[in-house]
Amino acid sequence: MNIIIRHSYEQISKYSAQIIANRVKSNPRCVLGLATGSTPIGTYQELVRLHKEEGLDFSQVKTFNLDEYLGTGIDLEKPYSMDQSYARFMHEELFKNINIKQENIFIPNGLTKEPKNFCKWYEDEIKKAGGIDLQILGIGRDGHWGFNEPGSSLGSRTRVVALTEQTLDDNYEAFYKNANISREQMPHFAITMGIGTILESREILMIANGSKKSGVIAKCLEGPVTAQITSSAIQLYSGEINVVIDDEAAYELKNTHHYRHMEKMNKQYGL
Ligand code: F6R
Repeated sequence: MNIIIRHSYEQISKYSAQIIANRVKSNPRCVLGLATGSTPIGTYQELVRLHKEEGLDFSQVKTFNLDEYLGTGIDLEKPYSMDQSYARFMHEELFKNINIKQENIFIPNGLTKEPKNFCKWYEDEIKKAGGIDLQILGIGRDGHWGFNEPGSSLGSRTRVVALTEQTLDDNYEAFYKNANISREQMPHFAITMGIGTILESREILMIANGSKKSGVIAKCLEGPVTAQITSSAIQLYSGEINVVIDDEAAYELKNTHHYRHMEKMNKQYGL
């Protein structure tokens, strides 16, 4: 597990974008797993810059998003209408600014009338695409990846879930309050890839910033593996892992000295 600690949000965003750009360059047909939320916005902005200024090419890249609120999504009559869906978020923050093909974008459909069938279809599409090469992840304050809230099985698959009060509070503050949507009106359910689905990806890039994440980052990386902190499953993951965090998010980690030493050694030996 490479744990990379940098001083600022800008630095972790650039570092993370560079990892993604390197994978896209070495495999132009790669399959990316994408996250929404406030954390990856800087990373996506840097990817857009790399596309516009340095020609980073997304024309053959496929993407699968982690999750979507149930009851929101792409209204085919009014594409990307002013809802608070993750589909719209992705369109605004990334897709409309790069040369990805619409048919290569997969996001759970929050408007589906048959959520169970949809979840199975989504898993099948990931398999058909050959699996996810690089999964980008944030982390919720309760330790979730996607919307795998405490108590989700560490082997879980794509499914419908109810959101916790804490996640509702966080997402209300970040996305709904300014849109004049009340906390009661915002969606209380979501479709999410499972922890088992995420663990099947070939590489993980987890990003976190700010003091709000310091407690959960310590639990995730240094605490016991437990379904109460679903992202702690990272400790069982067999592929390559980069955890890219700023000083504030790293504040409660016990072994930062060792992580910095490991980063230096890895660089020195080209690992
Ligand atoms: C979003 C997602 C969530 C977020 C997490 C952190 O697609 O999967 O797990 O990564 O809630 O959100 P932010 O980045 O807003 O702190």
